[in-house]
Formats: sequence, structure tokens, C-alpha cells
Amino acid sequence: MKHSILEDLNWRTTVKHFDPSRRIQSSELAVLLEAFRLSPSSINSQPWRILVVQSDEARARLAKSMTGDYEYNQKHAYDASQILILAQNPNYQREDYADVVEAQIMDGRTDPSDRDKAFEVFGYAENKTDANGSNEAWTRAQLYLALGSLMHACARLRIGSTPMEGIHEDVIHSEFSEELGGYHCNVVIALGYSDTDEDYNCEKPKSRLPLERICVTL
Ligand SMILES: Cc1cc2nc3c(=O)[nH]c(=O)nc-3n(C[C@H](O)[C@H](O)[C@H](O)COP(=O)(O)O)c2cc1C
Repeated sequence: MKHSILEDLNWRTTVKHFDPSRRIQSSELAVLLEAFRLSPSSINSQPWRILVVQSDEARARLAKSMTGDYEYNQKHAYDASQILILAQNPNYQREDYADVVEAQIMDGRTDPSDRDKAFEVFGYAENKTDANGSNEAWTRAQLYLALGSLMHACARLRIGSTPMEGIHEDVIHSEFSEELGGYHCNVVIALGYSDTDEDYNCEKPKSRLPLERICVTL
């Protein structure tokens, strides 16, 4: 089967070794961040935040979260062009949704006279909130959706990426507590260009379960 979407997705492999001499053009980085921002989310909640790690100082702070069991990821903190710390609001509340409603009014999607009505869908978030006020399972799902959009945009631009859950989240939370403002990081993504001489993954054939195994048409 041939299709440009499939060419993009077959091109992308998780980068195992970045070329530290190559950096992403700022105009392309802007496209990637926009692809993340444009991701759909449940009730348009957008419960996410991105920290762009670029300076030597921020890289060193991030690298502290990639030790012990996750040592294998640490080199990406230094070699990738940028690393994005992706975080979500684990206690998404009505006040957070108020920002969304205001943005929808500003963007002309919601009429100002419908401001109160726009909050009706917030009941959906309440249904996903437990007795302790946490709706993290729900907000985390939104974050991963945006991660998917971002990774596809990377592939389209032929920019390499490495999503990483191999991180000590608690270290990230303490190192970047000010910037995260209470948001939780579950995954980071390194961006840049593969060093194809060293990156053992880029030449390997892609391997996925067959469609018949994962898809049932009724
Ligand atoms: C959410 C998520 C977390 C991942 N965490 C890591 C990681 O910590 N380190 C790593 O080298 N690869 C990580 N990967 C890459 C996967 O192992 C990889 O996507 C999978 O084996 C398929 O290979 P491919 O991406 O090269 O097609 C992660 C992928 C995803 C989607």
C-alpha cells in the first residue's frame, strides 16, 4: 500500500543516537509546537504544558532524571536539538476550563452570550474526577494524544524524535517545579536528527502486529 501518510510513518523510527552537531531550524520547531497546540482534546480542555529544554543548564537539570534504570536515555538530554518536557494538569478544574471558554469566545467559536452554556460540558470532566479531585487518568490521555500529533508532524518534516517514559518523574517534578507549576510530566520527547552511523534503530525493519490481530470490522 502506498500513501504519503504511510511513507511518513514508515520513515520514522525512534532515534537511538542523535547527531549533536545538527539543530532544528527555529521555523520548523515552531511548526512542531503548533502541531502539538492544535491537537484535539476532550471538551477542548487542553490540559497540557510544554517546557522546551534547550540551554546547557536546562539539559543538565533534565539529565538528572535519566539515571539508574534510565541511564540509556541520558545522552539524548545533551545530544538532541531540543527536548520537550510534556506535562498535564492532574487536577483540572472549572477555573482551568474558564481559560478555554474565554479563548473560544476570543476565537469566535463561542458567542459571548453563551458563556455559561459553554460550561455545561465541564460535567464531563467532573465525571472523570475521583473523590480526591484527581482527573489525571483523563488529562494524561489528552497529553498522549498531543504527543501523537507532534510525532507525526516530526515525521512529515523528517525530524527525528525519541519519546521517553524512561525518566524519573519525581526528579523532573522537583527540578522543574517552578516551571511546571503543579503539572505532572509523564513523558518527554527528544527532537533532532539521527546520527545514522551510530543509530542502530534507523536501519532496522519496522515491526508491528498485523492489522488482522488488532482490528475487527463488524
Ligand atoms: C510513550 C512512549 C514511551 C517510550 N519510551 C522510550 C524510552 O524511554 N526510551 C527509548 O529509547 N524509547 C522509548 N520509546 C520508543 C519505543 O520503544 C518505540 O516507539 C517502539 O519500540 C517502536 O519502535 P519505532 O518507534 O522505532 O517504530 C517510547 C515510545 C513511546 C510511544
